[in-house]
Amino acid sequence: MVENVAGELADLESEDFYLLSGVEQGMRFSEWVAREKLPDFADLTPENVDYRLDRCERRGLVERKTIQYEGFRLTFEGYDALALHTFAERGTVEGFGAPLGVGKESDVYEVQSYTPMALKFHREGYTEFREVNRAREYTADREHVSWMYTARKAAEREYEALEALYPDVSVPRPVDHNRHAVVMERIDGIELGRTALEPAQVRPVLDLVLAEVAGAYDAGYVHADMSEYNVFVTEGVVVFDWPQAVPTDHANARELLERDVENAVGYFRRKYPNQVGTVDVRALADAIEAGDPDSISEFVCE
Ligand SMILES: Nc1ncnc2c1ncn2[C@@H]1O[C@H](COP(=O)(O)OP(=O)(O)OP(=O)(O)O)[C@@H](O)[C@H]1O
Ligand SMILES: [Mg+2]
Repeated sequence: MVENVAGELADLESEDFYLLSGVEQGMRFSEWVAREKLPDFADLTPENVDYRLDRCERRGLVERKTIQYEGFRLTFEGYDALALHTFAERGTVEGFGAPLGVGKESDVYEVQSYTPMALKFHREGYTEFREVNRAREYTADREHVSWMYTARKAAEREYEALEALYPDVSVPRPVDHNRHAVVMERIDGIELGRTALEPAQVRPVLDLVLAEVAGAYDAGYVHADMSEYNVFVTEGVVVFDWPQAVPTDHANARELLERDVENAVGYFRRKYPNQVGTVDVRALADAIEAGDPDSISEFVCE
């Protein structure tokens, strides 16, 4: 796993990374990269390729299959190692720390830079094989190439959304991205779903969440996966986990906005029934769409 990669990383040599990126390049054309093709892709002699393959296979960074020919592919640890190496070379990441969260579709770690940051490795294609078809144009022989493609696209989308939203919307500050990984500000808070708000805080916090939903809409995005687990409560609130965000001109934007509002309001209504009554979610979504959201109080029907 990734802790190992961080441990292994220190002990990898620069030519091991040539080999890994050679395998990565070969995987653009086929799922398993033939050994004979690697000297070209990796820019290493055949003997050196054999030596490096051995080292990388032992460390779980590549795997081997022999059917008609002997082929190699990256494992996700190998892909993690490449991204981490790039961040290290750019000076974005200087040290690797403890897990901050393991989601269904990502592994998030604390990393050290000039200040602690969060590094999110996307796993989308790896955990959802139905995404495979999306990568059809990418290679004729997809399966395991597709998770790299899908995860990389998810990281790109998340980074792009963060860049568009920060700092007008309260999201983690984007720092860098490479392949399937995003480095961002580490938020020191607790997920909304894991905290119990004081009665007097409930409406103000709901207002803050809805203000961020409205702010994001104003900046051109609908989060599209709003939940109590994608909001940190700090001194204010921070909305994170943006890879599935859609632009507001997307055909389903309105529907997704309404669902986000419903998810946020619904959570508060269930958890804090004494503070939050029935809310006219449609009217609230209308107001957000019109760029004219008032306090939640306007939309409570009682
Ligand atoms: N910037 C950050 N700072 C600190 N912790 C973070 C940060 N981003 C993510 N985390 C932690 O990692 C966990 C997973 O992150 P995130 O929700 O972005 O990923 P995910 O895999 O898409 O989640 P889900 O399970 O909702 O699909 C979060 O619940 C949180 O605990
Ligand atoms: Mg999440």
